[in-house]
Amino acid sequence: MGYLMGIDVGTTGTRAILVDPDTGDVIAGATEEYPLYTPHPQWAEQDPADWWRATCDAIQGAIAQAGIKPDDIQGLGLTGQMHGIVLLDENDQVLRSSIIWCDQRSQAQCDWITERVGAEHLIELTSNPALTGFSAPKLLWIRDHQPELYAKARTFLLPKDFIRFKLTGERASEVSDASGTLLFDVTHRCWSQEMLEALDIDPSLLPKVYESPEVTGYITEEAARLTGLKAGIPVVGGGGDQAAGAVGNGVVRPGIVSCTVGSSGVVFAYMDQPRLDPKGRVHTFCHAVPGAWHVMGVTQGAGLSLRWFRDRFGGIERALAPEVGVDPYDILVDEARRAPAGCEGLIFLPYLMGERTPHLDPNARGVFFGLTARHTRGDVIRSILEGVAYSLRDSFEIFREMSVPIEQVRASGGGARSDLWRQIQADVYNTELVTINATEGPAYGAALLAGVGTGIWGTVPEACDATIRITGRTTPDPERAKVYDAYYAVYRKLYGMLKPAYDQVAQIVQAQAG
Ligand code: XUL
Repeated sequence: MGYLMGIDVGTTGTRAILVDPDTGDVIAGATEEYPLYTPHPQWAEQDPADWWRATCDAIQGAIAQAGIKPDDIQGLGLTGQMHGIVLLDENDQVLRSSIIWCDQRSQAQCDWITERVGAEHLIELTSNPALTGFSAPKLLWIRDHQPELYAKARTFLLPKDFIRFKLTGERASEVSDASGTLLFDVTHRCWSQEMLEALDIDPSLLPKVYESPEVTGYITEEAARLTGLKAGIPVVGGGGDQAAGAVGNGVVRPGIVSCTVGSSGVVFAYMDQPRLDPKGRVHTFCHAVPGAWHVMGVTQGAGLSLRWFRDRFGGIERALAPEVGVDPYDILVDEARRAPAGCEGLIFLPYLMGERTPHLDPNARGVFFGLTARHTRGDVIRSILEGVAYSLRDSFEIFREMSVPIEQVRASGGGARSDLWRQIQADVYNTELVTINATEGPAYGAALLAGVGTGIWGTVPEACDATIRITGRTTPDPERAKVYDAYYAVYRKLYGMLKPAYDQVAQIVQAQAG
């Protein structure tokens, strides 16, 4: 059997990994980073050319690291950040930088969509409400504000599907990522003609949609030259980062839930029916497992909050880290270890990029509540770790309201690699967290999907059973869980109390920006 490649076009960088299907081991992995542009408050853009450059370099890096021949790769799966917009003109040139998932500029377009389609009917058609995070409002923002540019658009692709286009020449997507566009009929797993008509979007802009393990195209000669891959290797649909990550975590059966702290934070549950939250606080999307769906709650600024602290206040750690051979995050988290659970009343609201679950509010902002002269930098860092966990607990609470079965919670992402952050999560949720042997998440899931698409395994659960094992358990401490319960009650109150101030600030900022 040949090796499987998984490529994750993430928010901080693109990662390419190679998996040995016989053992399930990752034999090589390479990451190439790129910038995130925030030209205005609430805006977030990236350059698709950066993604492509990083993808070529990461693929070459992984192949070189593994010391294998391009001939030894049997299939490739793609995953990546969801919801971003790539527009191509009639010559297949990128028309503008990509407005990505965490961009919050499109509230006016969300209101327009909701009014035009009707709030309830929108949920009937797409299974979700209109949110600034999703693609359609971003697309309409471009139509409203850059009409000359929109008029030139002939193709709309999601981030990983742009990379697919560069690799295979095919305009294709798959059901899990398409679910996050708000143009997709999640129940019937196809584009929603009614939505396209209601929003007056030309269906010819949209790529063909496949199930996630299906082969969507083959590496072209040109892509082979740029990446070092062999021409003709099949590329499967793959999945949005959350669905592919869930496959990589083995969340492919009812009762298994994952809790992932990456740039965003996501609580994700497998469903064999498309169950909805009538308040639209959690998303209902197609799973990368054919015939299955999932619900997920999203914290916009999870790892992103700690990254923000590292980048803005961790200058010394960043400078020191390479010299002592330690990750700057480890130095910061070590400082947080010294602070007590609950940080003596310092509570962080992680709304640095607005918030999705449960507030669905682009105007929400980050807050440190309860600062006193006694608080240290360690308290501040710990309060970030705790605030992200409180926000994820909101999603667990909604799942319970919806009677989503929760039998086992699998912790993953950068936040699960830190023993302190994992323990804080277990204590805040008051639930045992399990960790597994596979720690690559989305890229690993994409590689497994490639294995299913190229016939190594018959089904996605079969692929997971062959490769994924539980390796660790983090149990909650009852005393700390009690402390966190008390602070979580305060955390829940704070958003409601601040809401009028958030809206007022948004108006002032808007007026100042003109
Ligand atoms: C999911 C979501 C994030 C992004 C970036 O809805 O917005 O997972 O895909 O990680």
